[in-house]
Formats: sequence, structure tokens, C-alpha cells
Amino acid sequence: MLLFREKVPTDWLPKVLENLPAVLVDHAHLERKAATSALNLEKYRDLYHCVEQLNAIAIEELQHFQLVLDLLKKRGIPFGQPYPSPWIAGLMKSVRSGQRHQAIDHLICCSLIEGRSCEKFQMLASHLKDVDSELAKFYGGLVESEGNHYATYLLMAKGIDEKETNARLSYYLDLDAKLIREPNPLPMLH
Ligand SMILES: [Fe+2]
Ligand SMILES: [Fe+2]
Repeated sequence: MLLFREKVPTDWLPKVLENLPAVLVDHAHLERKAATSALNLEKYRDLYHCVEQLNAIAIEELQHFQLVLDLLKKRGIPFGQPYPSPWIAGLMKSVRSGQRHQAIDHLICCSLIEGRSCEKFQMLASHLKDVDSELAKFYGGLVESEGNHYATYLLMAKGIDEKETNARLSYYLDLDAKLIREPNPLPMLH
């Protein structure tokens, strides 16, 4: 169950559907960064006991990365440059310092990124069904996994401090709602 307070802007889907090759390259980088994020979370003392679970997520994200690379190759789309996402940068800018606070904020950011991916992959799966069934199936196949990552990261944060996580989650949901409304002309997932 996703908690977002703002819908994905209506101009996002047409922009993405018109630029699928660029979006697939962006998606490859997104999966690469998701694998890196899972590994980066292992630096926090409060998450040492989650190291195997985080490794499993990193492996899964690396498999997603490979699946996108296979799709790029099959479609003759060259792997290219990553573009920074203003939405992700905006979320990450609000991560506080200090072991415990940083771990909770970082987990919430990762959770919201996974949650938005889950939501957007679902939108792509249903809108691509009649246009590009291979890609529709591909996106549909990722929805459950990204949804699980969203829930896992949120549970990990609550496991550190539930009250603090709920307060910060509310802050981040407002921030997400504000940031997602800001126009981004680049054909990107986030
Ligand atoms: Fe993924
Ligand atoms: Fe994920």
C-alpha cells in the first residue's frame, strides 16, 4: 500500500512513452544506483544486523540492471550517460547527519524511490500493453519486487525507531509531493 500524497503529474506518462529508448537508459542507471544504495545502507551501525537482507536486495537490483541492459542490447539502444534526477537529489538533500537520524532518513528516501518506481512501472505496464507488449510484460514483472523493497526499507527504518520514522515519513511525503510537481523536461523515470 503506497502512501503518497500527490499523484504522478499527468505530463509524466506521455513524455516517457514518447522517449522510450532514453527512458530505458535512465532505467538501467536507476537499477545500478538501487544496487549501490542497498550496499551503502550497510555502513550504518543500526543496520549491521540487516547486512544479508541488504545484500539480497543489491543482488536483485543488479539482476534488474542486467535485464535492462539485455533489453537495450536486443533493441540496439546504446548504454549511455546518466542524468541526475532533481527529485532524488531533492529528497537526499534532506538526509540529516548523525548515525541514527541519517540511517532513518536514508532508508525513508530509498523507500520512497522504490515506491515511486513501483507505481510508475505499474503505469507503464498498463499503458504499454497494446503498444509494446514485451516492454509491458517487463515492467509488470518488476512491480512486485520494487514494492517489496519499498516495504522492506520502511520496516527497517521503523525497526530502528518507529516514532521517529513516522514523523520523518510525514515530512518526506510532503517533500515528495512538492518535488514531484516541479517540472522536469528530461525523459526520466524520476
Ligand atoms: Fe529494481
Ligand atoms: Fe528496487
